[in-house]
Amino acid sequence: MNLIIHPDAATAANAVAAMMAQALAAQPRLVLGLATGGTVEPVYARLVERHRQHNLDFSRCRTFNLDEYVGLPAQHRNSYRHFMNERLFLQVNLELANTHLPDGLAPDLSAECVRYERQITAAGGIDLQLLGIGQNGHIGFNEPGAELDSRTHVQTLSATTRAQNSRLFAAPDQMPAQAITMGLGTIRDCRQCLLLATGREKAGIIRQTLTSAPTPAIPATVLHEHPDCTVILDTAAASQLEGLQLPGVALLTNLRK
Ligand code: F6R
Repeated sequence: MNLIIHPDAATAANAVAAMMAQALAAQPRLVLGLATGGTVEPVYARLVERHRQHNLDFSRCRTFNLDEYVGLPAQHRNSYRHFMNERLFLQVNLELANTHLPDGLAPDLSAECVRYERQITAAGGIDLQLLGIGQNGHIGFNEPGAELDSRTHVQTLSATTRAQNSRLFAAPDQMPAQAITMGLGTIRDCRQCLLLATGREKAGIIRQTLTSAPTPAIPATVLHEHPDCTVILDTAAASQLEGLQLPGVALLTNLRK
């Protein structure tokens, strides 16, 4: 696992956008895995800028999002389809037919999970997966206890996640109790992972993730088993790493002054 620490959140997001843009320019048919949430919003803003100012071309790119709430229609302002359409898909020259999220309204959710896995496989697998991290260590919506080799599945959301995300709903009780998420095994199969975490509220879980061996108790620790994973932090998210031994973690750049 590689680690890069940037001076602030904006620089970290810009660096992640640059890595994604570089991968897309090198491989126009890139299969991108995408995340939602506050942390990655500036990444999408920077990618949209690169499309508008430098003609970054998404026309042949395929995308698969990590997760979607169960029970929300695509047009609901809190659905992840809506988030992605607004922040990225409709702002660049992506073909909407090439963008994929699990269908949280599918009548048979188990069948939908199988279908989503097959769609990823049929696309040749995910080349580059963008990840955020929840304060309980979830990636996608794989909550503590999720099996490290799990595939796309229906996940009941934890109290921590509900507390973290319900503030984004008009009424907190509108937040769905379940989501469909790529599994930890699905994520581990992606050829490259970039995990972005910014802000002091992520410092504790980043310390735990980077210092713990893989364990279902901290789902993000599965990334220690990944052959090409880079964790990109700002100094706030890295603030509890000072002086720690981080076995298996290579500090690539430390831009702290
Ligand atoms: C959502 C997802 C989640 C978020 C995580 C962090 O698609 O993958 O794992 O990345 O909940 O969310 P923020 O960035 O809002 O703190």
